[in-house]
Amino acid sequence: MLEPKPIATGGQGEVFGGVRRSDGLSIAMKRCTSGPDGRARMRREIEVQSRLCDDHIMPVLDWGEDEFFWYVMPRGARTLADVPTPIDDSTLRSIIDAVLKALERAHEHDHPHRDVKPSNVVELKTDTGESRWVLADWGMTRRARGHTTADLTSTGRLLGTEGYAPPEAYTDAHEIGPRGDLYSLGKLIVWAKTGKAPVPNLVTDAPEPWRRLVRNLTRLKENERAESAAAAMSMLAAAESSSDAALLQRAREGESYAALEVCIHALSRTDDHDYLLDEIATLDNVADELVRNHPAEALELVKAMDAAFASFGRRNFDYANTPLRWMHAVARAAVADENFHLLEEVCDVLFPLEVSWNRFAQRDITAAWLLRITSPAADTVAECIRTHRRGMQSYLAGRLSHASSAVIRDAMRER
Ligand SMILES: Nc1ncnc2c1ncn2[C@@H]1O[C@H](COP(=O)(O)OP(=O)(O)O)[C@@H](O)[C@H]1O
Ligand SMILES: [Mg+2]
Repeated sequence: MLEPKPIATGGQGEVFGGVRRSDGLSIAMKRCTSGPDGRARMRREIEVQSRLCDDHIMPVLDWGEDEFFWYVMPRGARTLADVPTPIDDSTLRSIIDAVLKALERAHEHDHPHRDVKPSNVVELKTDTGESRWVLADWGMTRRARGHTTADLTSTGRLLGTEGYAPPEAYTDAHEIGPRGDLYSLGKLIVWAKTGKAPVPNLVTDAPEPWRRLVRNLTRLKENERAESAAAAMSMLAAAESSSDAALLQRAREGESYAALEVCIHALSRTDDHDYLLDEIATLDNVADELVRNHPAEALELVKAMDAAFASFGRRNFDYANTPLRWMHAVARAAVADENFHLLEEVCDVLFPLEVSWNRFAQRDITAAWLLRITSPAADTVAECIRTHRRGMQSYLAGRLSHASSAVIRDAMRER
């Protein structure tokens, strides 16, 4: 069942939204409305897309076998052109990753796309609501070598889209190869970060961590660009890790915004126990902002830090004070923010850890904190003391008779 009005109408065809009768799947049908040129192009699109079959290439669900003038695909939620700019780095990163993977696969089979641009990158939603970005609209690809029959790309006519098309598209469109797609991708990144339509034939800058990659991909001479999609991926990874390193340096120097960023990034590498113990744990003054703005992430990091103690290894025993102090700072920030749910979760992790490591420097800090704490935070903390009573009683033996809060005194005295 198709909707009467098309989602989009282009020079060569139109795209209709609809629903597949058999299972209610939301679909889009693309139909060719132009002459033989358009037909040949659509046939190529169907053949290539159905054969490439990759997570990041728009799938073809069904097509007109004899005529090749229509085909059906899953309906996307939107195209990249619909995403408001500037697009944040982590969203953009996953989109660029998807496009690079699509290109890697297609280039392997000698099918450059030749029209990479935001409106040809479509977001599909999975059943569980996760998004998957795919490269669509493969009508301009060339067939594998030896099969280039119809001359859709006669010399002198621009193939692709102004601004995104590489310089070689203006001279001999047949020559547009994999690196032409990489050029267009460079331009797409610039659009994503600035919202401005790309200027044709211009080497372009982009903000970090994209700068080096974009400068490379938009080089006017084809042979000066990254040699493959895979090479572009490594270039991006290298730029990111060096910008991570720069961020970490600023965080160490006490810049709180950088420290916060570093902590959030650390969540993507919680298996790296050394990084948590040696870097994250040394970042002071980050707890307040982390708890205020990202409480769920704060808790996740505290749990990751707890797990990291399993890899404490041969570090100086007293170094344990450092990650313990960091975790305790999160507990204090939770009190300041009156986030008692977080406070409870953090104390539940922290108390047994402090007891088992029994580090004197941190013990003084924790004791002083417990002496000062008042209700309502004290009620939550007292509950946690009760849960871990045996360990906490010996850990803080003799220090609590002056606690300002009766609930904490009582919790400590219970048998
Ligand atoms: N599967 C889809 N789901 C949702 N919208 C789509 C889909 N395919 C195409 N569109 C919309 O139709 C437009 C044109 O489709 P496209 O395949 O790029 O054809 P054209 O050759 O006309 O550029 C896209 O930019 C997008 O807005
Ligand atoms: Mg298109």
